[in-house]
Amino acid sequence: MKILFFLVLLGLHSAAAVIHSMKNFFTVSSEVPNFPELVAVGMVDDVQIYHYDSNTMRLVPKQDWMNRVAEDEPQFWKTYTARLFGYQQLFKGYFETLKHRFNQTGGVHIFQWMVGCEWDDETGDVNGFRQVGYDGEDFLSWDVKTNTWIAPKQQAVITKNSWNNDKSQLAYYKNYLTQECPDWLKIYVKYGRSSLMRTELPSVSLLQKTPSSPVSCFATGFYPDRADIFWRKDGEELHENVELGEILPNHNGSFQMNVDLNLSSVIPEDWRRYECVFHLSGVKDDIITKLDKAVIQTNWGKTGDGSDGGFPLGAVIGVVVVLLLLVVGIVGFFIWKKKKGKEGFKPANISDTDSDNSGSQNPKA
Ligand SMILES: *[C@@H]1O[C@H](CO)[C@@H](O)[C@H](O)[C@H]1NC(C)=O
Ligand SMILES: *[C@@H]1O[C@H](CO)[C@@H](O)[C@H](O)[C@H]1NC(C)=O
Ligand SMILES: *[C@@H]1O[C@H](CO)[C@@H](O)[C@H](O)[C@H]1NC(C)=O
Repeated sequence: MKILFFLVLLGLHSAAAVIHSMKNFFTVSSEVPNFPELVAVGMVDDVQIYHYDSNTMRLVPKQDWMNRVAEDEPQFWKTYTARLFGYQQLFKGYFETLKHRFNQTGGVHIFQWMVGCEWDDETGDVNGFRQVGYDGEDFLSWDVKTNTWIAPKQQAVITKNSWNNDKSQLAYYKNYLTQECPDWLKIYVKYGRSSLMRTELPSVSLLQKTPSSPVSCFATGFYPDRADIFWRKDGEELHENVELGEILPNHNGSFQMNVDLNLSSVIPEDWRRYECVFHLSGVKDDIITKLDKAVIQTNWGKTGDGSDGGFPLGAVIGVVVVLLLLVVGIVGFFIWKKKKGKEGFKPANISDTDSDNSGSQNPKA
């Protein structure tokens, strides 16, 4: 039992050995209605772990396992809340300096500060990064090797020079990124491992908007966001007539993605040679969906839709199904009546004909 457990752990580990990351995003803004002056968000492996803003001034855990970190490490929680308040003052100061430098007296402006680190849980290597953006553009970035700021644009040179002269601040930054950040990342990963390292397979469906649209192979509900999706013909991956979508987050922490296949020059007899393949990192078995007209979910020909504006096929199908059910019901009733005497109660089973599209997905919801 113990050995089996160990092997399972080992299997999981080697399959999902990853570089873990911690990222903190600070956004300072001016004159954005109903938006706090400072918002801070922390992510581990791209999953949000905390929220802080200058209105509430509270550090709020965003995952169940982060609640346990907060409970087990109250001192850390207090210190970090105080530090966020300090950052609020510091970044506001930087923000005002930049506004002044750009001769801006008012209006909507955004200052972004991103800081974080990576940790390879196999080799133990750590790496840090720190970047500053102003009004949506890169402003300064920090070079981990030389522990200095780099300016990608001329307007940032004054700031770069002044920040590079602040040796004590640089020393603090260096210590934070090489020591503190990886140490905390390791603690987060320890608490969150079972959640962060889980794999969840998606449901995969084939969707088509109109009879001449490409067929979209749509996977939703997978985790983590390391996945591939592609079309195959006779077992060979296709690169032409396909359009790969981005991996997008769902509201519940899972992800979705799609790949579209343009079938306009494919004759119907050849459809069965195509299949859609979904692969999730760390999972051996792919999800393979054969291209089959019968399984494609469509937007046209549904009752109450109205968008096709043509023949009300859905309504007709509905009536036919009701009539069929009625006939099956009546026939079933008579069969039941006939058999009742010999075999007891045996209702006609009509539930199988009552299939609907309740499983249909809403892409990019
Ligand atoms: C700001 O205004 C000063 C004086 O009017 C000018 O010299 C400087 O180039 C301006 N800076 C920018 C970024 O527009
Ligand atoms: C998360 O949301 C997606 C899309 O709505 C859904 O397919 C999936 O089943 C959900 N997963 C969980 C665990 O609720
Ligand atoms: C599909 O391919 C045909 C030609 O093979 C092209 O005319 C058509 O615009 C394509 N459709 C889409 C949606 O890309």
